[in-house]
Amino acid sequence: MKLKCHVFLIGMPGSGKSSLGKRVAGVRELPFVDTDQRVSDAVGCTIPQLFERYGEQAFRNAETNVLIQLTRETPSLVSTGGGTVLREENRSIMRNSGVIVLVDRPLQDILSDIKLDRRPLLARKGLPEVERLYHERIDIYRSAADDVLRNSNGYHAALWDLDDILQKYAI
Ligand code: S3P
Repeated sequence: MKLKCHVFLIGMPGSGKSSLGKRVAGVRELPFVDTDQRVSDAVGCTIPQLFERYGEQAFRNAETNVLIQLTRETPSLVSTGGGTVLREENRSIMRNSGVIVLVDRPLQDILSDIKLDRRPLLARKGLPEVERLYHERIDIYRSAADDVLRNSNGYHAALWDLDDILQKYAI
């Protein structure tokens, strides 16, 4: 499959952006980018280390730089960090170079299987923090999205639905 433009997956940590994106991109032989991975490759440390050493703003700036860099690359399936879409500049970069797809997963499902050990920043405050972020962000996610992938019927159904959405943006 080839895409007409980037397809940016947005949504809460634990909503399935990276795992669904990586899997469908693999099957469809699409270039796949994980912005968190790009940031950590660029700075040479993990995201939690980056937060710890230089603070959240440094991370957010690096995230914006990754998006800018992406505008010069082949259309890809891009999994963004849960906070990427909160910056207006990021929303505008994504809108201008692609479409934004929300991976919308019910809060209860996120809470029941989010991997906090892979997210040390959230792990400190635990599930109540996940819940707080959900309520703080859900309207922003929904209003930024061009398309919504409702991830509420299990992993396999979500894989099919993401594949369907990608067909809309395929050449
Ligand atoms: C963040 C989510 C993380 C990562 C960073 C900040 C957030 O990505 O970008 O720790 O603000 O929600 P995931 O959504 O992949 O966990």
